[in-house]
Amino acid sequence: MESEIAGWFAVIFRFVHVLAAIMWIGNSLLFTWMELNLIAPRADEENPRPDLLGHLDMLHGGGVFHLEKKLIDPKAIPVPLHWFMWQSYTTWISGVLLLIVAFYSGGGTALLDATRSSISGGAAIAFSAGGIVVWWLVYETIWRSKLKDKPAGAVLLSFVLLLAAVDFFSGHFNGRALYLQTGAMLGSAMSANVFFHIIRNQKKFMASLKAGEPHDLKYGKQAKMRSMHNHYMTFPVLFMMLAAHFPQLTSAARAVPVLAVVIVALMAVKHLMNSRYHFKHWLAAICGTFAAACGVIALLLAAPVEAEGVALSPAAEGAKLFVGQGCAACHQQGSSQLAPDLAGIFNSEQVLADGSKFTADEAYLLESIRQPQAKVVRGYAAAMPSYAHLPEEDLVKLLEYLKSL
Ligand code: HEC
Repeated sequence: MESEIAGWFAVIFRFVHVLAAIMWIGNSLLFTWMELNLIAPRADEENPRPDLLGHLDMLHGGGVFHLEKKLIDPKAIPVPLHWFMWQSYTTWISGVLLLIVAFYSGGGTALLDATRSSISGGAAIAFSAGGIVVWWLVYETIWRSKLKDKPAGAVLLSFVLLLAAVDFFSGHFNGRALYLQTGAMLGSAMSANVFFHIIRNQKKFMASLKAGEPHDLKYGKQAKMRSMHNHYMTFPVLFMMLAAHFPQLTSAARAVPVLAVVIVALMAVKHLMNSRYHFKHWLAAICGTFAAACGVIALLLAAPVEAEGVALSPAAEGAKLFVGQGCAACHQQGSSQLAPDLAGIFNSEQVLADGSKFTADEAYLLESIRQPQAKVVRGYAAAMPSYAHLPEEDLVKLLEYLKSL
């Protein structure tokens, strides 16, 4: 019952999260687009307006939006003046709630990969929540320090430390949780940028104007750096948040380099998209980046992982088969989206599509693998392929693995 209620809350929080994120990222992309397309006033104009920074015309809904970007006249502050922040806060709040119901509420085991780590679910929750806070502190420290004046160094240090965190989490978390954890760390830093830097600087700026101080561009500059960070983080974070749909990637043994390639490639794509107004070959460059990233990832996925040199238990052999035979692509740890989550399945009661109930004993589990269509679990399509062709010893190993979950 408890998990059923958590499931319904997950539906609500996930939808709000996706909707708010679309509004936030959509705004952010549109603002960046407008900045890039702003036409600066011509120097030789007859009556140059000193307050005008640029203008832009956009066709929409049977008319033209004629936009002007201008300095604010402290004596004529526009009313109403629209601020943009709640999309970001709503995304973060619903994201935290979703993290709690989807990953923390079941005691934290949904985060773990039992074949890699033996820490408790409670410890996994502490690592996950602590990781979000610690990452934000690390990021803040770097970008408040003197290093921020050497952006290349600051970016490199941030990236290396992020990968160190990913490496740490990959020793304990399953692939989907690893991607979501990394996305949650970056996404939280993005929302914190809006709260602590972008909006705060805008408030200070408006207060200084109202106090009659001259137009000071320093506030805008400070906010702009964090805005740019958020801008470049959007594509990688969106990708990580969709991790449940990319099991081929999340189940990769070399999680850290794969994720590193994904992050770099998506940031490069964003950069090339922004360069399209002055860089003629931007589209070819994006295709090249995409092909190169796919090539490197394919190599990383194909290269054999060194054997650990220890004889594996049948359950651990089964765990490898579970990934190798593609079971993990549908049965993702911590998710019952595409196929039932198999955690704790052995000897549990299963309800089938026709309402009949069975205990998932060895015979049931073996039949589920050999003839999945014989008993179809309630709530799922009869979509699982038969694995009757697997040799008996592999079936036994898979069975041992399922019993260990
Ligand atoms: C194409 C997706 C897909 C793949 C690949 C897949 N499964 Fe399934 N599996 C499902 C679906 C959907 C169900 C639920 C419907 C059903 O019972 O057939 C299911 C049901 C099961 C069940 C019964 C679960 C229950 O709650 O009673 C077991 C056990 C199982 N699969 C094990 C495996 C194993 C082991 C493999 C790999 C050898 C595998 N599956 C591969 C989709 C898949």
